[in-house]
Amino acid sequence: MSDTPPAGGLAPLPDAARRKFLHRMYNMTLGFWALGGIAATGYVGGRYLWPTRAGQVTGGERAVTIPVADLSDKPIVKVLVEGQPVGVFRYHDQVHALSLVCTHLGCLVKWEPGQGEFLCPCHGSRYDPNGAVLQGPAPLPLKRYDARVSGTTVIVS
Ligand code: FES
Repeated sequence: MSDTPPAGGLAPLPDAARRKFLHRMYNMTLGFWALGGIAATGYVGGRYLWPTRAGQVTGGERAVTIPVADLSDKPIVKVLVEGQPVGVFRYHDQVHALSLVCTHLGCLVKWEPGQGEFLCPCHGSRYDPNGAVLQGPAPLPLKRYDARVSGTTVIVS
């Protein structure tokens, strides 16, 4: 094979140079994939260690009313009270209103009606229906809100 360029065109790459070029392209592609994987893993890890704080939620009134009937239809009704997510639920014929913000690092807890507990999906803290810590690492109970039934509505404040 001749390495002399054709008139008016580029010289064809010799086999060794072509192999070297393709090898570099292959390595660059692998490198970009690896960097993307490292970045994605770092992002997910960071979100796990520093989850979104519920305090970043905005909106919501100081007192919120919901129909009492909603508590029969759903295991928990979520409302915003002064920008904070609050869960309103009926447990043992009493209406409760608790902050849904875990006191560990601020993840949103989930009500597990079958177990009668709140569970934090981030690091496994558990709270009883009064908000008391059943299992850490949460250091404090969930914040309680006032829930009053007045006629056909529940007033949460
Ligand atoms: Fe860590 Fe809830 S944020 S247990």
